[in-house]
Amino acid sequence: MSDLAFDPFDADQTQDMWPLMAEFRRRRPVAHMPGGFVYVSRYRDTERVLRDSETFSNAGGMRPSGLEVPLEDRSIGETVPPVHGPIRRLAMVAAQSPRIVESARPFARETAFALIDRLAARGGGDLIEHFSLALTNAVIGRLLGVSPEESAQLAVWGEEIMQSTLTTLNRTERGVGYAGAFPEFTRYLEDLARERMQGADQNDTIARIVQVGFEGAELTVPLVRMILLNLVLGGTATTRDFIGSLLLELLLRPELHEQVREQPELVVVAAEESLRVAPPVLYLIRTCTKRSELAGVAIEAGERVVVGIASANRDEEIYEDGEHFRLDRVDPAPHFSFGFGRHFCVGAGLARMEGQEALRAFVDRFAPGEVRLPADYPLARMPLPYMYGPLRLDAEMGAG
Ligand code: HEM
Repeated sequence: MSDLAFDPFDADQTQDMWPLMAEFRRRRPVAHMPGGFVYVSRYRDTERVLRDSETFSNAGGMRPSGLEVPLEDRSIGETVPPVHGPIRRLAMVAAQSPRIVESARPFARETAFALIDRLAARGGGDLIEHFSLALTNAVIGRLLGVSPEESAQLAVWGEEIMQSTLTTLNRTERGVGYAGAFPEFTRYLEDLARERMQGADQNDTIARIVQVGFEGAELTVPLVRMILLNLVLGGTATTRDFIGSLLLELLLRPELHEQVREQPELVVVAAEESLRVAPPVLYLIRTCTKRSELAGVAIEAGERVVVGIASANRDEEIYEDGEHFRLDRVDPAPHFSFGFGRHFCVGAGLARMEGQEALRAFVDRFAPGEVRLPADYPLARMPLPYMYGPLRLDAEMGAG
C-alpha cells in the first residue's frame, strides 16, 4: 500500500486537496484506494474514462451496489442507454439551446445589477446568499416560469436534498424516494407540471418538454417532475459556487479585478479560468463494467472509479502553470468542469452566461478596493466533499 491516501467522501480532505492531487498525478495517476475505489487524476485518463461510457458506466451513480431506484427518483446523470438519450433530450429542450440561453441573458444582467445595487446601498453583505445564489435562483425560476419567492424556496429544498441521504440511499428517515422523503417539494413540482401540461403557453419550458414527449413511452407527471428536479438540483448550487469562486479570486487579487474592468472582453476568459481552477463539482463517479486497464493499472468489473476532474483541470502536462488562475492563456485545452462525452452538462451555456453577467455587473459597479473582504475574513468552503465554492463572502462596499 502506498503512503498516498485520499478519501473522496471526507470534505476535510477534498476541500484542500490541491497539493495532494498534484502528488497523485505525479506518482500514482491511477490509484487503488483503501475504500475500494480507483482514483484517476490526470487529464488524458480522465478524458478516456469519460469518453468510454460503455466501460465506465454512469449506472448506479454514487448509490450502494445493487440498489434499484425508480426512474423518477434518479438523477439524469445516473441513467444509461436506452433511457438516457430520451430523458436527456427533455432536459436539453428545457435548458440547452443558445436561443434559451441568450433570451435569459438580459434578465440575468438586469438581475445581477439590481442585486449588486441593493447590496451596495446597504454597505455590503454576503455575496453568496445575496448575489450568486439569488441570481442563480432567479434564472432557474424564470426558466421554470415561477415567482422569485418560489424559486428561492426551490433552492432551499434543493439544498436539503443535497445534504440528505436521498441522493445515495433513495430514502431518508422521513420516507422513500422524493414522494416519501420530500413530499412538499414533490407535490409542488408535480402540481406545476400538471397545471402547465394542461394549458401550456407554447414558449414555456414545460410546453417544450411536452411537445418533444418521451420517446417510446407516455410522458407522465412524475417524469416531468424528474426533469424539473434535475434542472433545479443541477443548476442552482453549482452555479452559485461557480460565481462565488470567481468573485473570491477577484477579491483576493485586485490586479485581476482591475484588468477585467479595463478590458471587458476578459469577462469570458476569467469565467472560464475560474471554472478550470475552481470547479464546482470536484469529481465524477463511474462503475467499471468489464476488466480494463488505464495507464498500466488493471481495473476490475464492478470497481467504482472516482474521476478527478478538478485534478485533471490542473494537469501540468496540459496546462503550463496549471495551479494558477491566469488571464493570459492562449487557447487553453477545454476543462472538464462540465464533464465530457455523453453526459456533458446540459446547463453549461446557461451557467456560463450567468457567470459572465455576474462578473460584468461586479466589475462595472466596483473599482478594486471599493469592494473587499474584511481583514479577519475566515475563508470556509462548502461542507460537501464533492462540491467546491466559498461558504460565505461577507464583502464590505464603499470607499475603504
Ligand atoms: C457552473 C455550473 C454547473 C456545473 C459546474 C455543472 C456540472 C455538471 C457536470 C460535471 C455534469 C456531468 C455529470 C456526469 O458526467 O456524470 C453535469 C451534468 C448535468 N447538468 Fe450541470 N453543471 C452546472 C450547471 C447546470 C445548470 C445551470 C443546469 C440546468 C439548468 C445543469 C443541468 C445538468 C443536467 C441535467 C446534467 C445531466 C446530463 C446528463 O447526464 O446527460 N447543470 N453538470
